[in-house]
Amino acid sequence: MPTKEERREALKQVYRQAQGCVRCPQLAATRRTVVFGSGHADADLMFVGEAPGRHEDEQGVPFVGQAGQLLDRLLAEIGLTRADVFVVNTLKCRPPGNRDPHPAEIENCQEYLLRQLELIRPRVVCTLGNFATKLLRGDPVGITRLHGREEVRTIGPLTVRLYPLFHPAAALYTPANVEVLRRDFGRIPELLALPEPPQPEGAEPAPVAEPVPEPPPAAVVGEAAAAAEQLGLW
Ligand code: URA
Repeated sequence: MPTKEERREALKQVYRQAQGCVRCPQLAATRRTVVFGSGHADADLMFVGEAPGRHEDEQGVPFVGQAGQLLDRLLAEIGLTRADVFVVNTLKCRPPGNRDPHPAEIENCQEYLLRQLELIRPRVVCTLGNFATKLLRGDPVGITRLHGREEVRTIGPLTVRLYPLFHPAAALYTPANVEVLRRDFGRIPELLALPEPPQPEGAEPAPVAEPVPEPPPAAVVGEAAAAAEQLGLW
């Protein structure tokens, strides 16, 4: 089993790899930043949203707009801050006009998410909304039926407690759903207090794929490194 430091180093490598990603030509052409994720790289709790919006694309950090403010408030209500958790998205690049992610984009991007999961090793993973929930459960059942019901799931080499929640942006459209989301959030401390679910036999993170495709220009690497420091990865 790799040490914490080895996992952190591997995560930085995945971060660098994602910065130059051109797997989705339209997203690579229209994005300003690749929004890798932010927070505590050894967090017990991870949130998986949908995709960056305009503000996230500008700042390179997930959930910084209105939905992010609601996420921060709900975290504060259970005694947590963004520095205690790791927040990522299903897609690392903003879909133009905030359209829904296309299936091919989700497929192209999922390797980054799976690597984040196996290198951060959260015990509880909250999927926010339909896209993250369907992807990580590998099943088309929607969030309306699943929210607030935790289940033990093995995702790649990691077994976690998966806890689907309404997406904060969707909840903002329907005030009653903010209360549902708040109630579901209220159970997160209880889930974090449960013992770690048993891990599959011999599960080890795979080595990071080398070489890095399409390395970004040096200036971008510099900027990305500064951003990664801000994100808590370095
Ligand atoms: N919605 C998301 O799913 N992710 C973000 O980062 C912002 C809004």
